[in-house]
Amino acid sequence: MENSTNQRVKQYWNQGSCGTERTSKEKYSQEYFTEIEEFRYQYEPYIHTFAQFTRWHNKKMLEVGIGAGTDFLQFVRAGAQAHGVDLTEEAIANVEQRLSLYQLSAQEIKVTNAEKLNYPDNYFDLTYSWGVIHHTDNMEQALAEIYRVTKPGGRVKIMIYNAHSLHVLYMYIRHALLKGKIFKSPRWAIYHYQESYATKVYTKTDIKKMLRQFPHYNLRFYYWNQLIRDGAKFASIRKLLHKILPKWTRWYLAFEFEKSPVQA
Ligand SMILES: C[S@@+](CC[C@H](N)C(=O)[O-])C[C@H]1O[C@@H](n2cnc3c(N)ncnc32)[C@H](O)[C@@H]1O
Repeated sequence: MENSTNQRVKQYWNQGSCGTERTSKEKYSQEYFTEIEEFRYQYEPYIHTFAQFTRWHNKKMLEVGIGAGTDFLQFVRAGAQAHGVDLTEEAIANVEQRLSLYQLSAQEIKVTNAEKLNYPDNYFDLTYSWGVIHHTDNMEQALAEIYRVTKPGGRVKIMIYNAHSLHVLYMYIRHALLKGKIFKSPRWAIYHYQESYATKVYTKTDIKKMLRQFPHYNLRFYYWNQLIRDGAKFASIRKLLHKILPKWTRWYLAFEFEKSPVQA
């Protein structure tokens, strides 16, 4: 049984997995999954560079928070020994249908809370999580679990939301300042109004601090925004801002590192 925050998180994502709002096609049809996939890589093309799907051929990998399974499908197609977990039954149903549509099979997919991954220590060559652990109640615990199940020398790749982003400022103005809640913080606005309840945002410094207790090397950070669609609200202004503002104002903060080998 999840705690009450994670119950709310679960309830939210069980209403519809991430990305499925991008299609109006019949649920679980080929067109439904094709549209979800096309949208994702058209507007988040850098995911390929980050995930390096084909690099994990024959390697044991875990995706934490598979959602509708678009990235997970790429790992499976690339021949990875792919394990996937999500807090919701809705995500697992989407991925089961998706794999069977393409006659593909994964090593395992199951409902699991990222805060308690029931896998052995030092098990995966890659642990991957895109846009997930900022939603869970105890993000530090999820990060600790991701670290624990990754092999020494194995790689961790995670995307979370960036506290210094323009989007946070927008949410703060919209949900706090314009409503007269002048004593509320930008983090409060995200916690209460960004997707599921209890969403959190982090800076590069926050992540570096959290990782101090987990020996690692080759830590790298990346900042991205979802590309702006023509015809989206304020598209030309947003495109201009994206071009002129520094990268650290972008919404996605991704990082990757390798787990240090155990000291003798
Ligand atoms: C924004 S979606 C991202 C899904 C997928 N990674 C993607 O990029 O499309 C967030 C996902 O995280 C899952 N999630 C949230 N908290 C979780 C937790 N504690 N353990 C596992 N999954 C969780 C949700 O159920 C949801 O499917």
